[in-house]
Amino acid sequence: MAASSAVATEQPVEKFRKDYKEPDYWVRNVDLLIQIHDGQTTVRGKLSAERRKGAQESATLRLDAEDVEVVSVLLNGKELSSSDYHFPEKDVLEIKCGLPDKFELETVVKIKPEDNTQLSGLYKSSSMYCTQCEAEGFRRITPMLDRPDVMAKYKVRIEADQKSCPVLLSNGNLVSKGEMGEGRHFAEWEDPFPKPSYLFAVVAGDLGSIKDTFTTRSGRKVALEIFSEHANVDQLDWAMQSLKDSMKWDEERFGLEYDLDIYNIVAVNDFNMGAMENKGLNVFNTACVLAKPSTATDSDYERVQGVIAHEYFHNWTGNRVTCRDWFQLTLKEGLTVFRDQQFSADMTSEAVKRIEDVRILRAAQFPQDDSPMAHPIRPESYIAMDNFYTATVYNKGAEVIGMYQTLLGKEGFRKGMDLYFKRHDGTAVTCDDFRAAMADANGVDLEQFERWYTQAGTPTVEAKASYSADKQRFELVLSQSCGPSPGQPTKQPYHIPVRVGLIGKDGKDLVPERVLELKEASQTFVFEGVKEEPVVSLLRGFSAPVNVKLPRSDEELAFLMANDQDSFNRWEAGQELFTRSILANVKAFQDGKDMELPQVIVDAAKRTLLLEDIDKSLQAYALTLPSLLTLGAKMDVIDPDALVAACKFVKESMAKKLRAEFETAYKSNQLPSEPFRNDADAVGRRRIKNVCLDYLMALKEDKYTKLCLDQALQSTAMTDLVAATSLLAGSSDEAARKQALENFYEKHAKGNDLILCKWFTMQAMADVTTSLSDVGALLQHPDFSLKNPNKCRSVIGAFAGNMKHFHAADGSGYRWLTDRILDIDKMNPQMSARLVSSFSTFRRYDQKRQALIKAELERLIATSGLSRDAYEIASKSLK
Ligand code: PHE
Ligand code: ZN
Repeated sequence: MAASSAVATEQPVEKFRKDYKEPDYWVRNVDLLIQIHDGQTTVRGKLSAERRKGAQESATLRLDAEDVEVVSVLLNGKELSSSDYHFPEKDVLEIKCGLPDKFELETVVKIKPEDNTQLSGLYKSSSMYCTQCEAEGFRRITPMLDRPDVMAKYKVRIEADQKSCPVLLSNGNLVSKGEMGEGRHFAEWEDPFPKPSYLFAVVAGDLGSIKDTFTTRSGRKVALEIFSEHANVDQLDWAMQSLKDSMKWDEERFGLEYDLDIYNIVAVNDFNMGAMENKGLNVFNTACVLAKPSTATDSDYERVQGVIAHEYFHNWTGNRVTCRDWFQLTLKEGLTVFRDQQFSADMTSEAVKRIEDVRILRAAQFPQDDSPMAHPIRPESYIAMDNFYTATVYNKGAEVIGMYQTLLGKEGFRKGMDLYFKRHDGTAVTCDDFRAAMADANGVDLEQFERWYTQAGTPTVEAKASYSADKQRFELVLSQSCGPSPGQPTKQPYHIPVRVGLIGKDGKDLVPERVLELKEASQTFVFEGVKEEPVVSLLRGFSAPVNVKLPRSDEELAFLMANDQDSFNRWEAGQELFTRSILANVKAFQDGKDMELPQVIVDAAKRTLLLEDIDKSLQAYALTLPSLLTLGAKMDVIDPDALVAACKFVKESMAKKLRAEFETAYKSNQLPSEPFRNDADAVGRRRIKNVCLDYLMALKEDKYTKLCLDQALQSTAMTDLVAATSLLAGSSDEAARKQALENFYEKHAKGNDLILCKWFTMQAMADVTTSLSDVGALLQHPDFSLKNPNKCRSVIGAFAGNMKHFHAADGSGYRWLTDRILDIDKMNPQMSARLVSSFSTFRRYDQKRQALIKAELERLIATSGLSRDAYEIASKSLK
């Protein structure tokens, strides 16, 4: 008997993409017996394996095994003596004796799901048992070649207590179930599709569910079932609808059908990420699946729809065709995010969805790309793979996929997808294989496009325009550059699709829109037959994840904001106007000068407010200031106090000038409380209404505090409640603040974990003098738990996003975060490492703050027993 990870912490090892080798052995079948007992679980794992052709006969079998207590090892049914296997290093079980070409290796191990606070492997969440195997959690259940290129067929028998675990689930089809006496029962599941171990899943617990069916276009009837704790069964209908919509959409758009007779989804309370695409058995964070009108906001509804779609789409992009190694993660994630974005766009509004996606990219990914943690969408190395589930791999990865579609057109993209599946179905492949399928299916050269996979950093595209009236010719000189990133001092030019429109004085396009392919460092593009000097609309639809530089006047921006036929660029022009003014006011604030709001901006905002036949969501986003993180990314040195002050000033000045218009729009977009609607119009109305309320609250007048309080106390729609209560959480009117927060807690949050998280977040994000002591107090709140990732994110993660108070000049916010990271790291390294990344952009701040954060990062690294996850982010951030 030996524990596999008794070895003390070792120096973390870095793995490199260039070192990829096929394994010496393939595992073809995995046969598992999981015996769940309260306090201890036994796992018997039988691997049918064979030596890879070409591998050395003497090659030993090295199985991944982490935090499992090995009881026995059997080779072809015969128990091995303990001298035939050993643990040469942490988390490796090596079989030393000779192995035939083909054999069965069986291990019996003990694990303790009840003590598993990392939430990787088999763990207990509330009263249910569940698993999380991506990226490297399967090895925490049973010894295995735990890597995505090893694809096997799985059979599982689960045994558990009948009363506490009446529901027993795994991947694939249920083949038998029954009672075993003594209050125990079993279920056997078999998945006919070979899969990598990271897609394995098991769930056991006392669950309620809703059921439905979906008939695929070739006539296969699929049983759909969504499980949750009994108390939450009334919040599953929206997820079910979203699932059916996703299944239909993937058939229509990509010709992809579901391939099993069962599709199960389980909602769990404790989950490190959003959700997981295990074959036929998705596991979801409750935050991404539960929704009903009285508890979910409009964005919650959108998130549930998007994540349900995302995990469903993985069945083809991820499961049927999977990743050869973890460096290829964006192969499945970038592609699947792109697919869920396209789906959501089709279900709601293309323009609104595009704006939302770009807002996320700019707030979360651009800063990462400009930090020491910058990495290409296909990273070259990692210490802990879990650290690379990043906005770069996911969101920038999705932008890269979107560029194929922009370059090839929707039809060309579809051809590429078809070829990709034709070539690679049932196998584990690389990003290069995907790119080759796109190129070959369309007969185009996508060699240079590889640089999007190899180079980190956000490129800048600079444009210079000139017009000759004589020749009716317009010329656009586009040049590109990209600053250095870790290990990449210089960059090669990218292949960038730039969608361009030329707009005339009447607001109409003068010539058909074009997609320019910028491939050189600098290139000239000529437009003939341009009858008058145009206003250029550059990078329509945000056709590439780049920054653009193009000199233009405020008036030109206001013109674009009013006239561009591309709704994305109408929004973009407004954002540019806001950004300019805020950054100018940052400067004024720093220089002790008066801040000012240019009249063009007020006029443009007024025009937007008065538009009648506009999509209300577009109207709302047009009036929403860029996020602090997005603005910070545009500053040479981020000055949190000046930035927050400038934004407040712009909001308040705008509200002073347009008070009547904001009030009118607020009132005219009220909806009757019954019946609750969440169609695009209703969502848009709530959105614009709450933007107006935000502006009015900037005036700090009793009248508007009262209006806001009324909304906070009386609304029935969660979106309106959260919007008003959040505004009051940041109000200096102590009485109103207290009343709103208490009301929200007593009437809505108490007893509902997801709403509690909203209540935590609004306080952690608030800009009030007591912010830091408030979050300190929240940690002591009886409803808080450091073990629950959603709650950690809602208090600690949210505070790390509080621009003013997290970045308090005395370093108190930084010290506080470090202390929390150290508490969490002992339980859940994935979670603590995420929090460390809040420090990664520290070089973007002033010298004093840099020094304070640096000291905290050094304190982390000096802590003995720090997890490799946290170590990786802290040490790389310091480089
Ligand atoms: N693969 C999951 C998704 O993108 C995310 C995930 C990663 C979940 C790692 C858990 C652990 O949908
Ligand atoms: Zn995914």
